[in-house]
Amino acid sequence: RHDNGQRMYRAPMTAVRPVRLNRRAGLTAGASLVGLSTPGTAFAVGEPASMNRQDHAPGTAPPHHPGSQVASRLRDLADARGIRIGAAVASRPLVAEPAYGDVLAREFSSVTCENVMKPGFLQPSPGRFDFQAADAIVAFATAHAMTIRGHTLAWHNQNPPWLERVAASGENAGAALRDHITGVLTHYRNDGPVPVPAWDVVNEAITDTGALRDTLWARALGPGYLADLFRWANEADPDARLFYNDYGAEGMGRKADAVYELLRGLVQDGVPVHGVGLQMHVGIGARQSPSRPDLAANIARLRALGLEVHVTEMDVKLQTGTGTDDERLAEQAQVYADILGTCIEAGVTSFTFWGFTDAHSWIPGFTGKPDGALPFDTTYAPKPAYHALTRVLAGG
Ligand code: XIL
Repeated sequence: RHDNGQRMYRAPMTAVRPVRLNRRAGLTAGASLVGLSTPGTAFAVGEPASMNRQDHAPGTAPPHHPGSQVASRLRDLADARGIRIGAAVASRPLVAEPAYGDVLAREFSSVTCENVMKPGFLQPSPGRFDFQAADAIVAFATAHAMTIRGHTLAWHNQNPPWLERVAASGENAGAALRDHITGVLTHYRNDGPVPVPAWDVVNEAITDTGALRDTLWARALGPGYLADLFRWANEADPDARLFYNDYGAEGMGRKADAVYELLRGLVQDGVPVHGVGLQMHVGIGARQSPSRPDLAANIARLRALGLEVHVTEMDVKLQTGTGTDDERLAEQAQVYADILGTCIEAGVTSFTFWGFTDAHSWIPGFTGKPDGALPFDTTYAPKPAYHALTRVLAGG
């Protein structure tokens, strides 16, 4: 499936029109291009980072509807390279802002639910599953020939309170988590009406120093718990591709080594794990993103275990860098291009951004600072990063 760049696709040069970020395209007069120096214009600064920010917080309606600004869609270019290109999707703007769905369907071939497939949403009370919001996103994806990455079955955040209580009590914790995994994967079975081909089974189970993270599940189920989760998932849907997903383990280093060792052990023990998700929440500036050789080496060793490697949540923070707006946007474009290029060469099969428009990004809420970490600006106009990504996908 992956062609290692042998089959080069080149977009016709005349068709690739450079699109400048344009102040006329809807940014408030005097507003900073990327919102860094005028907090409050384009970003929900200071909004509490609730557990489901993008799915309930009011959004900023885009001031114009993007039309013919791009000539080559990311997804067409990605198809030609044999890679999926994806975005995390929030429920609210998908309903409220026509431009959101338009750009999503035009540019991407994969979607991840930003929040609504997490346990707090899917099983709000014991035994009562609520698939409505998630299924709406799945239906959108299916209608537009996009694949779905399921995210996530077990994590230490965004659990329903009842499940946290069960886990803390220690009693029936395993049964409760197993029932959750089974309920979700049965609904989304690949031989059923709403197939979800790939799942982040476990999210962020390793600490930044490479230890097993002390989470509700590690405490309740013991250090060997990860293998069980993959086995339960595999039993519920033998056709689902099962991933371990984490952040900060992209380049080489202590955490990446620990993730590698964890997966090596699981594979050695015959545990049904099929892939690794590298989140890739990075930034501009020194040491804010993995070097190309480190990233390539890490992907290579993971693939050597027989695992598929996906980039699952990429965004590139501007707040970590310095310089003018234009310089920062250019640096951001370079980081996106370097990482996508390295990943394609290294055999990554799916490349997902955590959102796609700066109008709906988790970064300002998470960091408490305005930013502009995604390839489209708040008006849905493509940024330099977008054009750099298309050039990489076109083989240039
Ligand atoms: C984030 C969402 O983007 C936010 O809307 C929510 O408030 C918190 O979770 N790593 C992950 C994602 O695996 O699930 C997180 O998503 C971002 C970090």
